[in-house]
Amino acid sequence: MSISSTSITTTTVLLLILLFLNPHTAKTLPILGLDSFLTSQSHLDPKATNDSFLSLSSSLKKSLFSSTPTIPSLQISIPLHIKLVGSFPSNSHTLLSSLISNTLFSDNFNIIGFNPHHLSIKHSLHLDISHSSPSLSSLLFDTIKSQIDQTPSTLLRSTLHSVLYSVVDRIVKEDFDKEKGVNGVYVYLLNLNSQERGYAYKYGTGDSSLSFTKCLGSVWTGKDRYIWIDLAAGPVDYGPALSGDGVLPRGDFHPLAALHGRPKSQKTLLADLASLVWSAYQVLLVPSLRIPVTYENLLVVQFIRVHGAENKDMSGLDWKSVERTFMDEVSNGGLLLGDQSFKFRTYDASFEECSVCSYAISRSVNSYTSRFLFENYTLIVSEYLDSKRLHQILSDAQDEIKKAANVLDEEFGRVIPVYVFDLDLNKLMLLDRYHQSVAFKDMVIAVRTKSTQTVSDYSCNGRHVITQTRELVKPLVGSILQSMWGVAPTHLLWSPRHNSTLVDYTWSIGQTPFGPFSETSSLSFVQKDAARRNVLLTSLNYTITRVLDVFEVIAAHGGYQYLLRKGQHAEFVQRWNLLKYKLEKAVSAMSHYDFEMALYFIRSSDHDEYAIHSLVYLSITRVGSLSFTTIVGADALPGVVGGIEEGTNPVDMGFNGQLEGRTSNEGEQNMSEASEFETLEASPSPLEQFLE
Ligand SMILES: *[C@@H]1O[C@H](CO)[C@@H](O)[C@H](O)[C@H]1NC(C)=O
Ligand SMILES: *[C@@H]1O[C@H](CO)[C@@H](O)[C@H](O)[C@H]1NC(C)=O
Ligand SMILES: *[C@@H]1O[C@H](CO)[C@@H](O)[C@H](O)[C@H]1NC(C)=O
Ligand SMILES: *[C@@H]1O[C@H](CO)[C@@H](O)[C@H](O)[C@H]1NC(C)=O
Ligand SMILES: *[C@@H]1O[C@H](CO)[C@@H](O)[C@H](O)[C@H]1NC(C)=O
Repeated sequence: MSISSTSITTTTVLLLILLFLNPHTAKTLPILGLDSFLTSQSHLDPKATNDSFLSLSSSLKKSLFSSTPTIPSLQISIPLHIKLVGSFPSNSHTLLSSLISNTLFSDNFNIIGFNPHHLSIKHSLHLDISHSSPSLSSLLFDTIKSQIDQTPSTLLRSTLHSVLYSVVDRIVKEDFDKEKGVNGVYVYLLNLNSQERGYAYKYGTGDSSLSFTKCLGSVWTGKDRYIWIDLAAGPVDYGPALSGDGVLPRGDFHPLAALHGRPKSQKTLLADLASLVWSAYQVLLVPSLRIPVTYENLLVVQFIRVHGAENKDMSGLDWKSVERTFMDEVSNGGLLLGDQSFKFRTYDASFEECSVCSYAISRSVNSYTSRFLFENYTLIVSEYLDSKRLHQILSDAQDEIKKAANVLDEEFGRVIPVYVFDLDLNKLMLLDRYHQSVAFKDMVIAVRTKSTQTVSDYSCNGRHVITQTRELVKPLVGSILQSMWGVAPTHLLWSPRHNSTLVDYTWSIGQTPFGPFSETSSLSFVQKDAARRNVLLTSLNYTITRVLDVFEVIAAHGGYQYLLRKGQHAEFVQRWNLLKYKLEKAVSAMSHYDFEMALYFIRSSDHDEYAIHSLVYLSITRVGSLSFTTIVGADALPGVVGGIEEGTNPVDMGFNGQLEGRTSNEGEQNMSEASEFETLEASPSPLEQFLE
């Protein structure tokens, strides 16, 4: 059995197996005509407002009666196409394929900020590897060569030439567009001949300067579903500056550096590539959820800026640009599902108008004393805001703040207030010493002062990363993604084997709004897909949880044959099989990245689930032997019609953590020797302490 639930004791599991798990019917057989019936229903009633069972023909009902009810086992298959570009020996694809298949197995989707961390839905990789035509690699090689030839030959600090990523991306994307009909994600592994000089990719215009760090990388994640990795570029380095959590792409041992360092046998090289693909699969294709998120028709972000009376400087805090980042994707069909809509509202209040805001800040200031070696040992006291305390005070004073900032009440939907404290201070003050912005499950808190930059404890290209502390757009985009859609940062991953959150910065460069190394706040397919997938996975998981509850109740009564009246057996079995069929259709739609169709089937299955609950519930009250509600809980009978999950609010179900830690993104600063900027001292990473 693939579904495990801690709430089910071993004995009941055994009972369930005895009662329901008939190996011959465990796999649902295709039922003739059911597919076309449901497809036509999805056109007639796309929101699944009506119960499709009621319009089933009697012959379809009859076929649904023919198999024994079993627990659905849901597994989403993830198609991944690898394109080998350049000098790969001709048997590489078979070798690579067997290497990857040996390390990959089906596994559960995971949630970072929720216990239990695993969902009942699994994923499995479907791999396809091919060699690309030699013309693609020579075109890429020539293009990179001409870029290198154009740039002046002496660069001061860096030994790597920087090539703008877009020159390669344009070519790769063109190739990808030819494949467009194909389902799944493409990974281009570029193994081009080495250029005369070392190079790596830059992701923005301009070069590094004393106050702006431009990190070089060798990967790109597209807006469409493709990734390219240039193995000849680099070796690049980015990660924690001295020590700290986080694997970083530095050193011969990181698979990104597979082609550098000592010469390797083909087998070793391919083993490195297999591990790179494995990592991309985990982090980009089946990313962990940050928190569970339910479907809501309306999503609202309320920007609430709290500032000094005279403080009108909005540069670095351009609401429009945050809004545009999301709305661009929405208008291209990303991020939202079904009939969801997404709204931004902006408000502000001065500290005079909002006295509780000043109170919140002054109550949350903490100081940290560190010993620092300049010429001699010196004590430095730095101040920071305790985000948890701020969160507590802001939650308690919600009504007061709303009044002060004239915040309109939103009648329904998921509302995330984004509090930005724009302080008239001349010194640096961050959240929990490192963060510009912190995401909580119900709000985002960000802060800035007049201080403009600081040295972070991250480095790339051998230099410290400088954080522009007044620039809040990127940190806010990252935090909103976490709070609104449960999208995890590209450097965080829940690892069941380690029983903890892993930090790995390999993919936090290029196109990602997360982490200190990327320069762009724009979203790639990774975030866009995760936003929608997270909602569907959460809903499916609730359905499964409730289905398991019903199973448990039925098992406790010795089976449905004993619990239900004779006349109800047929409907029960038909409903059950129809529910299972729809859930499998939802999973299959997700395997095809057809999130809308998946939503339809999940909504449609709610009717069957509700009917099953009613049948069982009524029988139990009739039998009177066991209180159903004490087992399942009052909200197991959802108000299904027209939507999903009206009864339960997952976020309230025991998740009381916040979304940050090292996670919340940027501004994660702790500082080292350099002192022309504000100083913050090094400390042990706060990660463990926040993520359970
Ligand atoms: C749902 O059923 C009602 C009653 O049978 C019908 O009037 C209505 O058109 C149906 N709605 C949809 C969207 O099919
Ligand atoms: C440490 O160095 C500073 C100057 O850098 C000097 O003013 C101070 O007296 C020194 N303190 C000690 C204890 O040597
Ligand atoms: C995982 O860690 C948590 C707390 O750190 C602990 O309570 C739990 O038992 C661990 N689970 C496993 C499977 O080791
Ligand atoms: C997912 O389902 C499992 C099994 O039913 C349950 O134990 C777990 O709490 C669910 N997780 C969420 C986030 O609902
Ligand atoms: C920065 O923080 C890390 C942990 O967060 C710490 O181990 C390290 O010593 C600090 N300093 C630098 C410069 O990385």
